Amino acid sequence: MIAIYPGSFDPITLGHLDIIERGAKLFDRVIVAVLSNSAKQPLFSVAQRIEQINYCTQHMSNVEVDSFIGLTVDYAKMRHAGVLLRGLRVLSDFEKELQMAHTNKTLAQELETVFLATAKEYSFLSSSVVKEIAQYGGDISHLVSDNVAKDLERKYQNKI
Ligand code: PNS
Repeated sequence: MIAIYPGSFDPITLGHLDIIERGAKLFDRVIVAVLSNSAKQPLFSVAQRIEQINYCTQHMSNVEVDSFIGLTVDYAKMRHAGVLLRGLRVLSDFEKELQMAHTNKTLAQELETVFLATAKEYSFLSSSVVKEIAQYGGDISHLVSDNVAKDLERKYQNKI
């Protein structure tokens, strides 16, 4: 079974990575799919995000990183995926995630959304929180992988 793990990943956090690692044990293949037409103004380009995710998932042979434009269900169909993988952190995630899962179900009956509970230690973690801390020079080494921490540092020093 192929699972798509869609998201913005701006940037990928250790919470995302935990979901990918656990998903890679459950499914034959996990495709991490970076949304490239988000309404949100991203900090990192799609190419940078793909590079970051590729670097920190290189130890998992059944994980692939890609980007997509348009609807997640259309991308999932194109990749012959049976599952959309999402992480659930806290109760406030639930409403948005359930709405998305139900909406996607109306668009593609055969596609199942599977939620993994995010590891307890990352339940507070989001890309936005990471960016806010990095912006003010705080320590993010326990929240993102080394390559992402370096990219954030350079980004906020206007070097990339
Ligand atoms: O990491 P995010 O930003 O919470 O991920 C949200 C994402 C990319 C999964 C969601 O916005 C999405 O699937 N966007 C693609 C457009 C789409 O398929 N919309 C219908 C589902 S509600």
